[in-house]
Amino acid sequence: MVEKDISFQSCMAALETFKASKFLMIIFGAAGDLCQKKLLPTLYLLFKKGFIEDFTILGLDLPKMTTEEYCTNAKKWLETNAKEAFDEKIYEDFQKHLFFESADLKKGEHYTNLCKKITEITSDDESYNVLYYLAVPPTLFSPIVENLSDKNLCRRRKGSKIIVEKPFGHDKKTAHALNLKLQDAFDENQIYRIDHYLGKETVQNVFFFRFGNALFEPLWNRNYIDHVQITVAEDMGIENRAAFYENATVVRDFVQNHILQLIALIAMEPPANFDQESIRNERMKIFKSIQSFNEKKIDDLIVMGQYDSGTVNGKKVISYLDEKNVAKDSKVPTYIAAKFFIDNWRWANVPFYIRVGKRLKKRYTEIAIQFKFPPLKLLGHKCKDLDANTIVFCIYPKQKVSLTFNVKFPGMENIPYPVDMVFDYKDVFQIDSPLAYERVLIDAMKSDLSLFARQDGIEAMWDIVDPIIKALEKSKKLYKYEAGTYGPVEADDLMKKDKRKWRLF
Ligand SMILES: NC(=O)c1ccc[n+]([C@@H]2O[C@H](COP(=O)([O-])OP(=O)(O)OC[C@H]3O[C@@H](n4cnc5c(N)ncnc54)[C@H](OP(=O)(O)O)[C@@H]3O)[C@@H](O)[C@H]2O)c1
Repeated sequence: MVEKDISFQSCMAALETFKASKFLMIIFGAAGDLCQKKLLPTLYLLFKKGFIEDFTILGLDLPKMTTEEYCTNAKKWLETNAKEAFDEKIYEDFQKHLFFESADLKKGEHYTNLCKKITEITSDDESYNVLYYLAVPPTLFSPIVENLSDKNLCRRRKGSKIIVEKPFGHDKKTAHALNLKLQDAFDENQIYRIDHYLGKETVQNVFFFRFGNALFEPLWNRNYIDHVQITVAEDMGIENRAAFYENATVVRDFVQNHILQLIALIAMEPPANFDQESIRNERMKIFKSIQSFNEKKIDDLIVMGQYDSGTVNGKKVISYLDEKNVAKDSKVPTYIAAKFFIDNWRWANVPFYIRVGKRLKKRYTEIAIQFKFPPLKLLGHKCKDLDANTIVFCIYPKQKVSLTFNVKFPGMENIPYPVDMVFDYKDVFQIDSPLAYERVLIDAMKSDLSLFARQDGIEAMWDIVDPIIKALEKSKKLYKYEAGTYGPVEADDLMKKDKRKWRLF
């Protein structure tokens, strides 16, 4: 293989020369699960790679502890979650930037102190990048924003930004109310509604693959594409997050955000420019074009499931109903298979099949674009077995793109044989891709909102999902599936009716 010089890649050069300085991140919920597993490891990695310097991280949370005690805990979290990237010497330097204060974030009194701290750290320099990260349960989003606003720490403090975690609302009504609350305090361009899925390298590559090549885009429509399959399979269960999951369900946890964003990325029109608003406008048009689900159609288009006990990766696991803090008669779905349609000129009648679930056979994520079969069976009776051309964006475990096409099997007989042309990130670039959170945090520091949801986008996604949730509450069809399998067998019927099959993983 010819060694490729990748140093000229302009996008990469731009990222690698970026350094965030004069940067203060205030993490609300700094002792929580998200902070331990994702945020701190990401900030540590950005520090290690030299992307952040001259910065302060101020953590706020309920537990009573000093900064010193917090740093001792942070070290343990990083040893576990940053894994081999953890380096004791680098941590020594990193922890000099870490501070912690105990606070009940519902109470206004703590914000007077926060105000003083911000002034102390930034010396009231308005060019200081101040990022508020809401890593707290969603019930705290509004009180925190109200308190920040009361202390003039939002719109009036130039250079301040707020990152809001998912779930953004519980339905359209609550999402709209939260949007109003945020927009009351901040300008829209200060609000970063995070969906870390869009920060994944292979996910962004869908965009580059489509619009960076003349080859595929002319075929990217209902005339050539038979259907799209999106699979997000997890092997883990709900992992002590029953309080969250019993409310969220698979629909709010995955479909309302990640899945709809993936569909938008695959289906959107080329934006007029590569700027954040042009890109967000095109995603928005797709949300508006997704056919709505109603009660009559629901059973034909959606299958829901809940995991039973079983064996995953050789280990016996309990059922969803036996998980800690789950109601014994819970009807919460942990699996969904569904068929979406996009009512626009490009995609009319092309099904977008999705399946997402917990405790499946293995952890696996991919987007597969399947093309139509050739129109004539010119190659003899063996044509029955012909595979359709398929472009697969594998997101996990490998980061790769492959194209399946048919060739002649060597020999005297005329037998078509499917082969894959594969591009694997690691083989070509020989570097680890940045983590999704690394990318979205850097973008927030750079004030690039392209990968974040806009107010209208969030509400449009709820417009799609609310009727699904309502119809499912009425339909009450919930199929059990054995942990460690592909999900409920009833999901196969969704495909069989259309004479198609789910892809194996
Ligand atoms: N965890 C994940 O992997 C993940 C993934 C995607 C999105 N998210 C989202 O990220 C946010 C945080 O998730 P999480 O799992 O980290 O939540 P969490 O652990 O339940 O809560 C975060 C932290 O907030 C603290 N807290 C609760 N009430 C408080 C109060 N009144 N004042 C100060 N601190 C308070 C919690 O303390 P206690 O533990 O003492 O209550 C905890 O340390 C949520 O919106 C979640 O939906 C999480």
